[in-house]
Amino acid sequence: KSVASIRINNEDYGTDDYTNVTPKILSYLNRNLHLQKGHPLSLVRQRIVNYFYSSFTHGGNPSFSVYDNLKPIVSTKQNFDDLLIPEDHVSRAKSDCYYVNKSLLLRAHMTAHQSELLRAGLDNFLMIGDVYRRDEIDSTHFPVFHQVDAVRSQRKEQLFENHQGLEIFEKHFLDQSQSFKNSINDPTKQSCHTLEATKLMENQLKNHLLGLVKVLFGDNIKHRWVDAYFPFTHPSWEMEIFYEDKWMEVLGCGIVRNEILMNAGPNNSIAYAFGLGLERLVMALYKIPDIRLMWSTDSGFLTQFENKDINADITYKPVSSYPQCVNDLSFWLPNELTIDTFMSNDFYDLVRDVGGDIIEQVKLKDKFVHPKTKKQSLCYSIVYRHLERTLTQAEVNQIHKEIEKAAVQSFGVVIR
Ligand code: PHE
Repeated sequence: KSVASIRINNEDYGTDDYTNVTPKILSYLNRNLHLQKGHPLSLVRQRIVNYFYSSFTHGGNPSFSVYDNLKPIVSTKQNFDDLLIPEDHVSRAKSDCYYVNKSLLLRAHMTAHQSELLRAGLDNFLMIGDVYRRDEIDSTHFPVFHQVDAVRSQRKEQLFENHQGLEIFEKHFLDQSQSFKNSINDPTKQSCHTLEATKLMENQLKNHLLGLVKVLFGDNIKHRWVDAYFPFTHPSWEMEIFYEDKWMEVLGCGIVRNEILMNAGPNNSIAYAFGLGLERLVMALYKIPDIRLMWSTDSGFLTQFENKDINADITYKPVSSYPQCVNDLSFWLPNELTIDTFMSNDFYDLVRDVGGDIIEQVKLKDKFVHPKTKKQSLCYSIVYRHLERTLTQAEVNQIHKEIEKAAVQSFGVVIR
């Protein structure tokens, strides 16, 4: 496995022991589903953009700029450091991200572009695109999904338009802004901000986002706010909506950490930011039962959304449902690996690489340690299903065999 470089979109990138992007993952890089005309992700993207355009105008012009075509390969500085994500934070793990090499990765969230756009002098903007996270495989998880991220910043004159005399920053911060150590020990606000500014921003942020889900789901949508933590905002919240008898998390948001604004330029404004997952909203809105359908090129799926008014009330009708086929795969781990050090995400990726989109789910079924030899073994169930036709047992067996072979080659396991 020692290639010195890989080619992605006509550019060569050096590889190292961090490299874990797979050809399968790279094949999603140019799909741009969020920009594909008539695609459900694109319909909802447009509705969200329209909402932001119409909520904030300045002299009749939209005061939000939209970036929906930013390159998905970003540096660890963009994805983590600029956002104050600590060096040892779990979200940086190789087991969770797709690294091109030690310093470049496929962005794990759209917030990765926040600092560069602030640095470019923007104050109100949306960032929309595909994001990549290593994950298990099932009907609601896919290693590629789409996010809409936003920043809205305001200076004192705007924020306190109707409350002259109030300040964004605490006096002791203004007096010693070079040496001031901003703290987030107080759950209600950052130490540099006044409570008035924070509360007003919180109110605007929450109303703004509530307005959005009402535009999408109607006025009767049930929602709730949950306190949250993100390294790049404080305070932070998540919004959940009540959907099919369950609370479903749809977005994260908060007041941008002042250090991020200062590092990127503006030092006299306060900003809020949020990031929402498009797939969840789209699946709930159109009742699409399986996230893999987003990637379908089947006309039975696509024609249900094509040539429709973006505000049309569409309910997805399953084309038909084909049977699943479940095969188990058990193997002995090589001596140097244990049940705890075996990287299940590596295994999931291998299964997906070999099996492609007919892999519906991979689940750990059993762990076993031989009482005498102490050899360790794992058993996974692989669920195969084609979205558009019935698979034959013979064709599943053949792919299953190939997965076994690949597992032997990549991990040195011995099939039981
Ligand atoms: N980037 C966060 C995520 O992917 C969402 C978020 C964006 C939260 C901006 C707060 C502010 O979960």
